Amino acid sequence: MPRRIAILPDAVADQIAAGEVVERPASVVKELVENALDAGATHVRVELEHGGKTLIQVSDDGTGMGREDAVLALDRHATSKVRSAGDLVGVVTFGFRGEALPAIASVSRFALSTHDGEGTGTELGVSGGRLERVADAVRQRGTTVTVRSLFFNTPARRKFLRSVGSETRAAHEAVATLALAHPEAGLELHVDGTCRLAVPADQTADERIAAVWGRELAATLVPVRYAAGAFRITGVIQRPGDARPTGRRTQLFVNGRPFRDAFLVRAAEAGYRSAIHPGDRPSLLLRLEVSPGEVDVNVHPAKLEVRFRDRIGAERAVEEAVRDALSALVSAVPIGGGAVGQWGRGAEAAAPGSMLPPGAMADLFAPAQSDGDTGSATEQPAFAAPLLQVFDTYILYEAPEGIVIVDQHSAHERVLYEAVMSQLVGSDAPAQRLLLPLTLELTDEELDAVESHGEAIRRVGFEAEPFGGRTVVLHAVPAPHPRFDAGRCFREMVADLARGRFGGWANRLERFAATYACRAAVKAGERLEPREMRELLLRLFATDLPPHDVHGRSTIVQLPREELERRFGRR
Ligand SMILES: Nc1ncnc2c1ncn2[C@@H]1O[C@H](COP(=O)(O)OP(=O)(O)O)[C@@H](O)[C@H]1O
Ligand SMILES: [Mg+2]
Repeated sequence: MPRRIAILPDAVADQIAAGEVVERPASVVKELVENALDAGATHVRVELEHGGKTLIQVSDDGTGMGREDAVLALDRHATSKVRSAGDLVGVVTFGFRGEALPAIASVSRFALSTHDGEGTGTELGVSGGRLERVADAVRQRGTTVTVRSLFFNTPARRKFLRSVGSETRAAHEAVATLALAHPEAGLELHVDGTCRLAVPADQTADERIAAVWGRELAATLVPVRYAAGAFRITGVIQRPGDARPTGRRTQLFVNGRPFRDAFLVRAAEAGYRSAIHPGDRPSLLLRLEVSPGEVDVNVHPAKLEVRFRDRIGAERAVEEAVRDALSALVSAVPIGGGAVGQWGRGAEAAAPGSMLPPGAMADLFAPAQSDGDTGSATEQPAFAAPLLQVFDTYILYEAPEGIVIVDQHSAHERVLYEAVMSQLVGSDAPAQRLLLPLTLELTDEELDAVESHGEAIRRVGFEAEPFGGRTVVLHAVPAPHPRFDAGRCFREMVADLARGRFGGWANRLERFAATYACRAAVKAGERLEPREMRELLLRLFATDLPPHDVHGRSTIVQLPREELERRFGRR
């Protein structure tokens, strides 16, 4: 039998590799800028024409290459960055596969000029993978790679290129990602002669984020600093109230290397829990630091993905890092300086644990049993200050650095939400048996909702019994506050559930808890006793995320003293 297996000629192998590494102009830009940064460049200039379809040029002031190295660099698996398989573990350069230059050169008209600072420079010309020219070059130290007519010899690939606008955006994105990865390097991107991005060398990480993502977005970000087990995480995340459904930016790095990972982004979102409106997508940039053995960076030809040895651990770390950053944010909210933190602690001391059974809640909101109830453990000096209810909706009080305004409904909603979440996963809420059961008429959809949420409804304290036709009888109800209208709450809650009004919650229980909390909370327009206001505030500051209600809106607003002084011309 004649031999049927043959080793592919290099040119063919390179073209096959190019299929994996060089997908579109953005991948060429990525590989070339990575090479420049690996070569220690302090300034990299990228130029594109027609979305990179006709021209991509990347110039750097890095180490450059001697002539022999330059020619060798075009060979497959030619790399100066690793020498053995062992070097792959913990490789710190972007490149290490030695594939990019030959792959790019095999599908374009390629030129490379370089000078390593000794002797004369070198210029190479390659067309479709064939080395056509080696000549002297007069230039400064560094390297310039010029890629023209990408995919000229692979028409099938060329056909898959998208519009100039779309290719330009993808290339811009690639440059932006690398700019974020290397704040110390200066980068410029020029598109058809116009400068699209220019960041100076030697920026701090924060300056770089502001330069690449814009000052407006940067102003909505708060720092993340986390370390536990094998993971260290730093970076920034967006304040919950500033997140929007569209236009988000996300960027992940592991040991300085950018990568994509939808699951880790989702883990970060889980860290926001109920602080964020269901449809909103927070921007974030997280740098994970793990020991090199914990992560395999060589699982994707373009190195866009990585593999964690402990994936669950990575997701948990990201979620916790976000959660920690947000709770730090809570105590940093400018309500009378550190006052919230202080009150938060006071409240915790008064009522250990933030998830309180609704029985206790009912007590709190019940009218005072006796007048001598002050001086109890729940009486914190901070809340001894007079509280004022305005418009039967807001609670006002004086803090060291300003006037604090709390929305009573939002605040109670947040308190109930956390209490209910603990009941849904733990013990049932104590319910109050009704002497006269309530009878309610519901629609078919509402009856379905009662049925499908039966267990959750029971756990928050409703005992609902179907009574033939569309009638439901309530034998027992929860008692979240004294003016609680159980029939109305039940009706509104099942209507919300039936209409899917609280849609978008990832978790069914969270959705139920938010619906119940919204409907059971004291409403705007209800008059509260001073004691009730005080208790509500104590409860609020004992929750995990006091400044946000379950819709991601604010529960607390402050009027800084400074602002008052400015308006009255005192400063
Ligand atoms: N801009 C550059 N400046 C200096 N050396 C470079 C540059 N680009 C490529 N090289 C050299 O060429 C080699 C091959 O590059 P490449 O094909 O991208 O593989 P890799 O980056 O995986 O090593 C690199 O290892 C490096 O030594
Ligand atoms: Mg490379």
